[in-house]
Amino acid sequence: MSNPSLLILPGDGIGPEVMAEVQKVIDWIGANTDTQFDVTYDLVGGAAYDKHGVALADETMERAQAVDAVLLGAVGGPKYDNLDFAVKPERGLLRLRKEMDLFSNLRPAQCFDALADFSSLKKDIVAGLDIMIVRELTSGSYFGEPRGIFQDGNERVGINTHRYTESEIARAARSAFELARRRSNKVCSMEKANVMEAGILWRDVVNEVHQAEYADVELSHMYADNGAMQLVRAPKQFDVILTDNLFGDILSDCAAMLTGSLGMLPSASLGAPMDNGRPKALYEPVHGSAPDIAGQGKANPSACILSFAMALRYSFDMGDAATKVEQAVEQVLADGVRTADLLQAEGQKPVSTSEMGDAIVAALN
Ligand code: IPM
Ligand code: MG
Repeated sequence: MSNPSLLILPGDGIGPEVMAEVQKVIDWIGANTDTQFDVTYDLVGGAAYDKHGVALADETMERAQAVDAVLLGAVGGPKYDNLDFAVKPERGLLRLRKEMDLFSNLRPAQCFDALADFSSLKKDIVAGLDIMIVRELTSGSYFGEPRGIFQDGNERVGINTHRYTESEIARAARSAFELARRRSNKVCSMEKANVMEAGILWRDVVNEVHQAEYADVELSHMYADNGAMQLVRAPKQFDVILTDNLFGDILSDCAAMLTGSLGMLPSASLGAPMDNGRPKALYEPVHGSAPDIAGQGKANPSACILSFAMALRYSFDMGDAATKVEQAVEQVLADGVRTADLLQAEGQKPVSTSEMGDAIVAALN
């Protein structure tokens, strides 16, 4: 059997720096398990724009479709803020999500014990937190038509369309129920059925899928605004949260901050199974390109390394290796090795991005 293949798209800002640390972990896996990855690198976002004039070249898209999994760093930066909408760095990421049909975006928010003090909330509210947001990623207001800025009489009108089909809702719901069965068996679905027809349909379809296929899973529904409030009031009431593309974007940033640092949070975007049985998949840290600290060796590589751990688990059936990587990150934090985003006391000295990566590899050993 040939080696599993990975396409790495470091992207912009701190993307290349944190990805260099992931490469160390990939090398460790190659040296210490039976699995060697075939790794290729390519460009996305502003880096792709600089070379090709678009945020994702067609050849890169083809490569992404052909590999077993894609790892992405981050896209965007002030240099690209004034580009035409169609070539903005974010379009590269959205094209990958859409054309690979990555409809299920898993965003775990887990509070590591060593970081419970970093949350903006009181420690007892977040200690031990372990929730998973399942965000629908290929439809809704991010992609619905019509969209655009149009002239309407003597003024302009901006239009985006919040559109969901039954099958789009059903497949996202299935993925949330499947995950819940492997966790605490609870799903809370969030929409705005009180004001949006698409929200009413969302709730109906989630109920139908639940009754027909997943009646063993505990299901509740919440309006998304109440969900945001409950996330900061009592986040531990949740196990799996299922929601749409736009609400999921917002709620997942909110959940991320509960855990103390955006620098810790990985994500997986999964689609339908390919011929080899593996899902189409893209893994990326939730943090952005952080242009303010890019190129300075300050970024925390943990989120990107934990995203690779998710790849081991969800794409390569290497759950044990994934757990090992996660434990190594936790160990390093518990040992007090911290990048600047995680420093507590004044006078403490932060480690650099690459020292953090080295410490994680040392903990793996
Ligand atoms: C995210 C980001 C993206 C989104 C941007 C970069 C397009 O905020 O992954 O949450 O809005 O989906
Ligand atoms: Mg976001």
